[in-house]
Amino acid sequence: MSKVALILVVFNVMSPAVEALDNGLALKPTMGWLHWERFMCNTDCEADPDNCISERLYMQMADMMVKEGWKEAGYEYVCIDDCWPSHQRDDHGRLQADPKRFPGGIKKLADYVHSKGLKLGIYSDVGDKTCAGYPGSLGYYETDAQTFADWGVDLLKFDGCNMKWTSLGEGYINMSKALNKTGKSILYSCEWPLYEWPFQKPNYTAIRETCNHWRNFNDVFDSWSSVKSIMEWTASHQDIIVPSAGPGGWNDPDMLVIGNFGLSHSQQESQMALWAIMAAPLFMSNDLRDICPRSKKLLQNRWIIDINQDPLGKQGYRTAKGNSFEVWERPLSKNRLAIAVLNQQEIGGPRGFAIRDVPGWKYCDPQCNVTLILPQYKEMGVQPKGSELVLPVNPSGTALLTVSLISRDFNKLHWKKTSV
Ligand code: GLA
Repeated sequence: MSKVALILVVFNVMSPAVEALDNGLALKPTMGWLHWERFMCNTDCEADPDNCISERLYMQMADMMVKEGWKEAGYEYVCIDDCWPSHQRDDHGRLQADPKRFPGGIKKLADYVHSKGLKLGIYSDVGDKTCAGYPGSLGYYETDAQTFADWGVDLLKFDGCNMKWTSLGEGYINMSKALNKTGKSILYSCEWPLYEWPFQKPNYTAIRETCNHWRNFNDVFDSWSSVKSIMEWTASHQDIIVPSAGPGGWNDPDMLVIGNFGLSHSQQESQMALWAIMAAPLFMSNDLRDICPRSKKLLQNRWIIDINQDPLGKQGYRTAKGNSFEVWERPLSKNRLAIAVLNQQEIGGPRGFAIRDVPGWKYCDPQCNVTLILPQYKEMGVQPKGSELVLPVNPSGTALLTVSLISRDFNKLHWKKTSV
């Protein structure tokens, strides 16, 4: 890969430099389903009863999660996003669900979701209104945290609209404390850095101490350009954000849009592969009642999920870019490395990428055991340092593999960057 500009990254097994929020949650990236990208703020249950934001939608998704193997694959949280509450708080200043769309109320919905062995997530905002204009939590952090705890809610997604940016930190920290004060374990999903980046570089030490995951960049849309922009943002800020990820706290590149309308199958494979390399929370936003079998198989692919959930808990880096390829690598437990090779060329057919051009391959000395996971599972056997193996990669698709060093000192290697 002589024409390719390389940044070489060598792997070690250090724990993250920063302390995580100590609530015992999100020791691995959270997995579940979140309504926003697919169902947005559809509140018209008369015209569109099957797709509006109502208790029925979450109950049906919970049913599907159990029936169709999602729960077994590891997806656990069924999450409500914006547009669930009534526009008015109750007489005690508490949030209440829209009575028409959630006639049973959130507590009953939480009981239902729990009865399926799943968990329920809810949404609010650090400012006085949510992004869609529903009541926000500003001035009510303790009341709202207690209300969510009383209802049995297991996760809070806390948005950052309608708040002075200089007060974001204080707001997110105060809600974290309010959740902690309830005594119930509530996973805390933040958007603090996303709203702070336009003004200053966020303090990731404070963010990791406060939140279980945090959005850094724009909302995902159902398009390849959106998914690409998220990957590009992540790579171009990796030196800042990757060290802050680890058990208890993760960078959140937003939802998986696999199974919807906008991505080709190769592009869906790229999203799944890269979200695994990025140690991203895996929140699907799709319609589990109506999903094509190929997308379902991809989302439930246990080899990819295993990479995402790897107990070492280290986020990967983009390690090389050139000749319209990107290489991403993530160190895994048991002396293994996950490698994703993305073909950025959106014309033509599959293009070959030689495995020995992967920066981390140089540690396969004298040899590594290679397992191809995408585009299809295949044991490639033991490959020597000078392996001639070439991976065909589809346009805007990704080859995903794991390599496992046979013998010698993989453990003693250290992260080190050099330019070649
Ligand atoms: C923001 C968030 C999205 C979603 C919407 C809801 O845009 O980033 O993820 O929650 O608000 O209004």
